[in-house]
Amino acid sequence: MAFYEDWCKNNGDCDCSWKKCLIWTTIIAVLTGVIILLIFAFAVVFPPKATANDAVLLRLALSPGSPSPANSTASYNITVTLSLRNPNIYRGINYDPIAVAFSFNGSRFDESATVPAFYHKPRKTATFHLTVNGDGKPVKLTAGGVAAFRAENATGKFGIEMRMDTTMQYKGRKTKCPLAVICPLELQLVDPEVAATAFQRTKCTILRAKKSGC
Ligand SMILES: *[C@@H]1O[C@H](CO)[C@@H](O)[C@H](O)[C@H]1NC(C)=O
Ligand SMILES: *[C@@H]1O[C@H](CO)[C@@H](O)[C@H](O)[C@H]1NC(C)=O
Ligand SMILES: *[C@@H]1O[C@H](CO)[C@@H](O)[C@H](O)[C@H]1NC(C)=O
Ligand SMILES: *[C@@H]1O[C@H](CO)[C@@H](O)[C@H](O)[C@H]1NC(C)=O
Repeated sequence: MAFYEDWCKNNGDCDCSWKKCLIWTTIIAVLTGVIILLIFAFAVVFPPKATANDAVLLRLALSPGSPSPANSTASYNITVTLSLRNPNIYRGINYDPIAVAFSFNGSRFDESATVPAFYHKPRKTATFHLTVNGDGKPVKLTAGGVAAFRAENATGKFGIEMRMDTTMQYKGRKTKCPLAVICPLELQLVDPEVAATAFQRTKCTILRAKKSGC
């Protein structure tokens, strides 16, 4: 108090209460900002964000089973480049091994790919290249799936879903959190005559457990 009064006297005709008010408002605003920043850095955790940056479909052929579509087979070659970002400014994330599954029209046709367990540093983006390859692998299609394949096969553009499942743990927390990443990919079959095929970068959906600590 004394400081401001002295300062005002030395500065002649200033409006003391107005200046004090402004100074205190500024101090409170700065402190509030710092506290909010600390809460975000240390108390609140954010799940990772995932994006399919690139994907190449070299082959996708389904042989519908007859009489039952559940006895169909699939031959395919798919490569996906996926990036996973840890948006937390302070907290690292430990991931258990990640299981990767590909499905067409809700029917899984590949579960062979995995990503090994890893530690994800805060603010970092990890990139993975996943390739799955199959020849005559059994796939349980529905009648609707066979129809969907015929329709999409006519255009060469296929809707394929990539799903990743794992558990993760934020550094400094005890809870193991189930996590699923779902990427709906629109893949144009690569025509060897036309080398470049544009892939639209796709944001993936993150499903996380509604559990305290997650
Ligand atoms: C069709 O699938 C069923 C099980 O889903 C199996 O028992 C049967 O042997 C299969 N038939 C053929 C011809 O593959
Ligand atoms: C699948 O694609 C990869 C490149 O992405 C290639 O190395 C591999 O030989 C292909 N496999 C088949 C069976 O076409
Ligand atoms: C599968 O394809 C059928 C026929 O196009 C469609 O009606 C159905 O919604 C599709 N199901 C899924 C899970 O995509
Ligand atoms: C899918 O399309 C290719 C090329 O257009 C064709 O050769 C193939 O017979 C089609 N497959 C089915 C199951 O319709």
